[in-house]
Amino acid sequence: MCGIISYIGKQDALPILLDGLYRLEYRGYDSAGIAIIDHDGNVCHMRTAGRVDELANLLAAHPVQGSFGIAHTRWATHGAPSAANAHPHADCKNNVFVAHNGIVENHAKLRAALEREGHIFASETDSEVFAHLIERALGFLGNAGTLEDAVSEALRHVEGAYGIAVVSKKHPQKLVVARRSSPLLLGIGDNEFFAASDSSALLRHTRRIIYLDDNELGVLTPDGYEVRNIRHKPVPKQIELLTGSPEDMEKGGYDHFMEKEIHEAPDVLRNALRGRVLYEDGTAKLSALDASADKLSRINRIIFLSQGTSYYAGLAGKYMMEELAGVPSETLYASEFRYAPPPLNEQTLVVAISQSGETADTLEAVREAHRHHVPTLAIVNVVGSSIAREAGMGIYNYAGPEIGVASTKAFISQLAVLSLAAVWFGRQRNLSVLRGREILQELRQLPHKAEKILSNAARIRALADEYALYENFFFLGRKYNWPVALEGALKLKEISYTHAEGYASGEMKHGPIALVTSAFPSVVVAPSDSVYEKSVSNIHELKARGGKVIAVATEGNTEIVKIADHVMHIPRTQEILSPILTVIPLQLFAYFIAKKRGCDIDKPRNLAKSVTVE
Ligand code: AGP
Repeated sequence: MCGIISYIGKQDALPILLDGLYRLEYRGYDSAGIAIIDHDGNVCHMRTAGRVDELANLLAAHPVQGSFGIAHTRWATHGAPSAANAHPHADCKNNVFVAHNGIVENHAKLRAALEREGHIFASETDSEVFAHLIERALGFLGNAGTLEDAVSEALRHVEGAYGIAVVSKKHPQKLVVARRSSPLLLGIGDNEFFAASDSSALLRHTRRIIYLDDNELGVLTPDGYEVRNIRHKPVPKQIELLTGSPEDMEKGGYDHFMEKEIHEAPDVLRNALRGRVLYEDGTAKLSALDASADKLSRINRIIFLSQGTSYYAGLAGKYMMEELAGVPSETLYASEFRYAPPPLNEQTLVVAISQSGETADTLEAVREAHRHHVPTLAIVNVVGSSIAREAGMGIYNYAGPEIGVASTKAFISQLAVLSLAAVWFGRQRNLSVLRGREILQELRQLPHKAEKILSNAARIRALADEYALYENFFFLGRKYNWPVALEGALKLKEISYTHAEGYASGEMKHGPIALVTSAFPSVVVAPSDSVYEKSVSNIHELKARGGKVIAVATEGNTEIVKIADHVMHIPRTQEILSPILTVIPLQLFAYFIAKKRGCDIDKPRNLAKSVTVE
């Protein structure tokens, strides 16, 4: 939910930290701050409400030299966005500085105890307790105490999630970082070291990274690094190599990351399928599933767990799995599953879907499944992310970094991976080779079909411009079109701040249709599929009440153009794969409305890319 970048080495820290903040800004952008200790041991501690640009402007007027420091861009949880609540937070003596990502569940109790001991707090945040706990620990340890020992001592009192970076004036040339449930990676350079919330801030400096695991600390100096657990024991860690390129972080000529990522759909589909289509056998090659085929053959129930857009992918996944494999499936919000898990047993499979692999609710739901001895499969985009590393089995999307807060290409990739998984499970059961081949053959056509839809972006833009000022929309769909309707509504909501409700079409008559007027248009996802006739009936019902209708329909359908006010076309495809195509016009529709309304598309208000707090 927030972004942390820290550096220690031989270069000037400031430009490295600012660049890192810009690359992490999609994780949270309501305030930002920096703490750099210069060569004389003085601290430059600057914080501001607003975007990283505000901080950069502040620093331009107060240049600072220093070769180690920490920086933070925030998504507020406790305490409004303000300079005082921005990180890094300092202790009473302005000696210790801490940047934190996560939530301290017992912060109120800790704060009260620290205040009773005379500590003065300067912010409303939960995170400030770290600075005072470390200050107190340094006092207990005395002059022989190291910063890392003080951090370990402080963390013993903390309940909740954290990724933290700590520097101290009295401990020059040392950077201490620690992690529990909130991601933190070490970047291993040539006599310089980094720590960041995710790889996007490291890629320009080094590909050599170490993923910290829960309850581990990193101690970084210009001469080297050590990873230890909070009982001070060294922990051997594998250096891994980042893939991808810094260009992935650029917009590539598009106006927004979201627009670029919508247009990446064809390549994203190719990457999701690459090396995974076994056409002759009519099945998919998914090594994680192949390695557990015996156990998976005994699965008699599947529960998809996720949030937001990934939850809607799970809804489509449920239909796919039941249609192809005949395995009873359901889709639950991870945030609900955690507190109200249904009866579980070892014949249940939990499938966690997460683009970031760091969504706190989904991560905790995986852990809850493990507590019930339920096998888990993760479908994740970010390699090495927490969910990817904690789930029992995993399938990566390989969609590349998704920077826009609104998820687009990840959704397309999740649907493709889910269809491969459903084919795999089906062929392990009663799905015929022929049916398996049919689906795989159509999957291989989808990149080209997606390109065709994208080539009509200008027509969708014209339609979006016509509807940009409407304040309310319904998005409607039935069966495979229902998850797409929900996703289309979410896209429009989150980037244009327009009220949009997604509904199962059949539900309209049970109340919502009361809202339909000429000022309350509906988008109806109505490709030529098994429920098309029902969708046409729904369109008539809306039209009869003066409602305007924008339909997503299969090209060549000459009937629907006479009924709906507007039609966005997709190429013909198989019903089970149609969400992969029908969602693209809705992504573009939302994007262009938001653009027409002048919204901040890649960083919508109140949101962040990865919800790593509960
Ligand atoms: C989607 O556009 C949103 N940004 C949000 O709903 C997102 O899908 C959700 O937070 C889940 O994120 P994840 O896939 O990284 O777990």
